[in-house]
Amino acid sequence: MAPSLARDVSMPRIDYQLFDPLLPAEQADAMLRLCERYGRYGMYAEERIESDFGENLAQRHDAVLNFVKTGGRFGRKESVAKLAARTNYFRESYAYDEPLVAGIEPFLRHEGFLEAARQLYGRPVIRPNIVYANILVPGQELAVHTDVPEFRGVNRKKDPQWLIVAMHHSRLFERWRMPIATGVAWFGEPRGGEFVFYPEGPWDAPVALSVRHNTAILLDTDSVFHGVDRVAEASGPMPDLAPGMFLTHEGGGRWRVGRGDEALARYTFDELRFSISWKAYCYADAAEERLVREHGDDLTRAQVLDAFVADLRRRDKLGRDLPGDTELALLIIGTYIQYPPPAPMAESGTQASG
Ligand SMILES: [Fe+2]
Repeated sequence: MAPSLARDVSMPRIDYQLFDPLLPAEQADAMLRLCERYGRYGMYAEERIESDFGENLAQRHDAVLNFVKTGGRFGRKESVAKLAARTNYFRESYAYDEPLVAGIEPFLRHEGFLEAARQLYGRPVIRPNIVYANILVPGQELAVHTDVPEFRGVNRKKDPQWLIVAMHHSRLFERWRMPIATGVAWFGEPRGGEFVFYPEGPWDAPVALSVRHNTAILLDTDSVFHGVDRVAEASGPMPDLAPGMFLTHEGGGRWRVGRGDEALARYTFDELRFSISWKAYCYADAAEERLVREHGDDLTRAQVLDAFVADLRRRDKLGRDLPGDTELALLIIGTYIQYPPPAPMAESGTQASG
């Protein structure tokens, strides 16, 4: 069950690895049962933080701006409310450092993921940190984005997510970056909902992976743009989903979405797109892990902003006088985060090679 290498193995860095199958068949079926047993999934809502910088902006202002501007990968035009409902999918954590639900252990400590993570950055010390379930109902999709990375001293608990994303894309803070490997596994086979990613960078053609039961990919989702194409609306259009709703297993493979006991819509399991994500910190050695733990070389917000301002001046994007926070924030997003352009194409998706 060795993972297939998606790139020439002589390359110094392997950008992604595919797993097919990921788990022995009975363990893969157990993941479906675990999903049902867990039973109730909340809608992924934006985290709120107290921040004194760019407070008028959404946490992922970069991704929101891009999605609203382009209409997503296929350049569709819809209202902002509709687009928000499409991308507010359902999520719960199955592990956070330790298993939070019985039965997730084979996934949390998957040997193939660990080895692929070591190869991804050439860093031998892999610490799985979080495992979470994502469920998209028919009509939902996930806008193209890169994930929120982490730097020593800078994290999403206290710093705006768009700022952390821009830090990584700028490459100005590599010394403080904490490389994270992400595995995404699929269980069940919905229609649509392809995993789309840009392994050659935002300007080259994307690859669309069909969702097939018990398969997975491991890659650097902090660097590689990725998203999820729309899950097929086979039995009618998506209902008016809104924050605060839940997706609940009613038994016998039947699910309902809504608040409390009301059912805005009902689905069978094979209509839902269920994936499990795995994230691990990748350390060079024990000394680096200790540096992180002991905060021996943390960045401060002032350092980050000073570095951005100096670089923007080098690029002639900024004069002597500093603009207001919101203007500076939009300048940082616009300068450093280059999204893939929308590329209208057949929605059936092409199969990945490799
Ligand atoms: Fe992501």
